[in-house]
Amino acid sequence: MDDLIAELHTRRAETKQGGGETRHEKQRAQGKMTARERVDNLCDKDSFEEFGLFARHRQTKFGMLTKAAPSDGVVTGAASIDGRLIHLASQDFSVLGGSAGEVHSLKVADAMHRSLKTGSPFVFINDSGGARVQEGIDSLSGYGQVFHSNVLLSGAVPQISLICGPCAGGAAYSPALTDFIIQTRKAQMFITGPQVIKQVTGEDITAEELGGADSHMAHSGVVHFVAEDDEEALHICRRLLSFLPSNNLEAAPFVPGDENVDPNPELNKIVPVDPKVGYDVRQVIAGVVDRGDFLEVQAGHAPNMVIGFARILGNTIGIIANQPAVLAGAINNQAANKAARFIRFCNAFNLPMVTMVDVPGYLPGVEQEYNGIIRNGAKLLFAYSAATVPMIQLILRKSYGGAHVAMCSRDIAADCVFAWPTAEIAVMGAEGAVEIVFRKEMQEAEDKVARRAELIQEYRDAFASPYVAAGRRLVDDIIEPADTRKHLARALEYLKNKRDQRPPKKHGLIPL
Ligand code: HXC
Repeated sequence: MDDLIAELHTRRAETKQGGGETRHEKQRAQGKMTARERVDNLCDKDSFEEFGLFARHRQTKFGMLTKAAPSDGVVTGAASIDGRLIHLASQDFSVLGGSAGEVHSLKVADAMHRSLKTGSPFVFINDSGGARVQEGIDSLSGYGQVFHSNVLLSGAVPQISLICGPCAGGAAYSPALTDFIIQTRKAQMFITGPQVIKQVTGEDITAEELGGADSHMAHSGVVHFVAEDDEEALHICRRLLSFLPSNNLEAAPFVPGDENVDPNPELNKIVPVDPKVGYDVRQVIAGVVDRGDFLEVQAGHAPNMVIGFARILGNTIGIIANQPAVLAGAINNQAANKAARFIRFCNAFNLPMVTMVDVPGYLPGVEQEYNGIIRNGAKLLFAYSAATVPMIQLILRKSYGGAHVAMCSRDIAADCVFAWPTAEIAVMGAEGAVEIVFRKEMQEAEDKVARRAELIQEYRDAFASPYVAAGRRLVDDIIEPADTRKHLARALEYLKNKRDQRPPKKHGLIPL
């Protein structure tokens, strides 16, 4: 027995070496952690229970018979974060470039199924050269199983991808099927790399410009968080999980500590009464949520729409807010997509939503129309209308036209609507409205400028105040900004047990 145990220890230690110290040092020299260091840094101390340590590939050709591939290049297992169970996979670049062979992918898919069976989040740390070329179509088949598993888990348990190294070709589709992607500034992700692009289209671009974290945040919207390095990415992952339930049947963790609902007079000073003056809506969010703690999602993408997680009286909420500081808060294609996806995540995981509105409308323009603002804007309407979690609309200032309806209006979604005294709810801005309704009258007026100003004021008095909307019961109450936290806390409390039954069907057809 002693000999067998000694052999076991030796084998374990050797296998855990992965691709060996030289390759690990190369990885560290690039400012990256190894696959196992990432696991250790992510999870609670000594909580990691590995499975598949001794898994081996089955390929015999292309020199693979003798090629050591410890754990087949991926570390998988169960662990805890803040005492809560997760399952994970961490690709080991030191083993055949973290390439995904058949067994490698089956290990990942197996970890995912354990997530599903146990109702625990799945975290996939990517660092891989993609499909293992030596294994040919077996590696493609393995990827297929991973993708399919991603879809099985979708909406049942949260799935988070970390991109800490290369993630090229089809490998990018597993992260793309997950709920959140955290990419480090040392990693690149693309379907076809710079060389292929050069050959096919003649375009010159660096790997960083093409698939770096900042490019994906700003342009493609593929990533949700940008991290400087592995350490920050792992920290963001832990923080994100702290806001999320472990699965769609459990509540998010309750984090007590901020029971104060006293008036916050600062809130009375943030929103300028003049509707043309911008401000940062994140100041409003910070003034309302527990300890001002807001985890913004996709901060660098479509910044005219702010989304993220926070808590009120210890319970997680999703926040969706127009950002008047960027494009006056108008909704463009990217903003509509960003918000719609987030709304669907919140709904899938039973997180109540608070929508803060200050929006002049959908952004006009040929580019917007050609890129599908009709289809993308409809996603927002669809996502809210299909959501059944508690939803609160808080109208801070402008709330015009189709964008008013789309931003969680009473008619499509909101269980409860609050408006600040600065709110203007109207079919469109007074300036635009008079051009349509009173154009002839203004042309005929002696003093055209004065008449125009008069008509604008008349229109504004008629519609651009919260009292008209409250009179029509589109607003439940007009509140002093300072009291917002108290009202939100109460509304969330009485909506806690909301039930909203929908007709049975296979699924609705969100305009993708
Ligand atoms: C097998 C691979 C590999 C792969 C890397 N390696 N990628 N082995 N299959 N896909 C091996 C290398 O041969 C090398 O082994 C070791 O990993 C480290 O790679 P290096 O090239 O030395 O590292 P680096 O210079 O850092 O470059 C990393 C890289 C590059 C940019 C990722 O390796 C690369 O371009 N790899 C191929 C990427 C790619 O085209 N993948 C697409 C595969 S097809 P040795 O023993 O020499 O150290 C695909 C389709 C999937 O993914 C479709 C699913 C639906």
